[in-house]
Amino acid sequence: MESLKEKIIALKKEKNAVILAHYYQEEAIQEVADYVGDSLGLSQEAAKADADIIVFAGVHFMAETAKILNPNKIVLLPDIKAGCSLAESCPPDLFKKLLDEHPDHVVITYVNCSAEIKAMSDIVCTSSNAVKIVNSVPPDRKIIFAPDKNLGKYIIQQTGRDMILWDGACIVHEAFSYDKLIKLYNENPGAKIIAHPESETHILETAVYVGSTAGMIDFVKTNPAELFIVATEAGILYKMQQEVPNKILIPAPSKEDNTCACSECAFMKMNTLQKLYDCLVNGYPEINIPEEIRIKALIPINRMLQNS
Ligand code: 13P
Ligand code: SF4
Repeated sequence: MESLKEKIIALKKEKNAVILAHYYQEEAIQEVADYVGDSLGLSQEAAKADADIIVFAGVHFMAETAKILNPNKIVLLPDIKAGCSLAESCPPDLFKKLLDEHPDHVVITYVNCSAEIKAMSDIVCTSSNAVKIVNSVPPDRKIIFAPDKNLGKYIIQQTGRDMILWDGACIVHEAFSYDKLIKLYNENPGAKIIAHPESETHILETAVYVGSTAGMIDFVKTNPAELFIVATEAGILYKMQQEVPNKILIPAPSKEDNTCACSECAFMKMNTLQKLYDCLVNGYPEINIPEEIRIKALIPINRMLQNS
């Protein structure tokens, strides 16, 4: 009997579909994907996708970005409820109020936000290019950065720019326990701590490398160390371990006493192999964006892609 994976592979061929998956997706989904990457890589892949259907195995804002870039393609999200605490922290009406109060500011938004928020932005960034994008703004211009305050604080520290920060955060990256991390580090002499910039400042200060999910994978590949403590969503460990089969990777501990002692994004994990199969069969849940918003949101996304 054909396995679910085999059925998905056959179906995506038959329907001329491409599967794009984020590193935080469950292993089985990563295995059937045509491309696995970070937010920037996924946006770039979506921009050049040559398929009728894009199945986006990630969260809602990522699938929206793919749709903004591909208005004539069908974009499917296996679970339409796969949201993001950061994106949800920034409602369009409140964001507009902030922009109205600061009309002279350049508006830079982290890609983890809704299409409506992107439509109000001057330029979008991801964790891969945030520092570069902020540095590209002339020094005499004031900046609003939204929605992630932790990434925002990190950029301020890296660039010396004074930015107004939106008060949003990622529930997963704010769940790391500093005390448990230091204890783990002391128990593992020689370990290198690496962290995603959505983590809180005191976690980032312990890290020898701070970067996007793709950047973190590159770091463990190129750094000679054998032992790493990884402060980001635990799904990354699957691809990372494949890249460095002989190195030891330990997930950074979360504040909660959960069974795996690591942090998982419940939104990302809403997508399952079964739901991926079902969405290919049924042609929904489909992402649709009002054209007026899509056109406005495309401008800051394209500015980012041209800058990356
Ligand atoms: P990356 O851009 O590093 O893939 O991060 C995406 C994300 O949602 C992190 O929580
Ligand atoms: Fe959003 Fe955090 Fe999940 Fe990334 S890990 S999708 S930022 S909630």
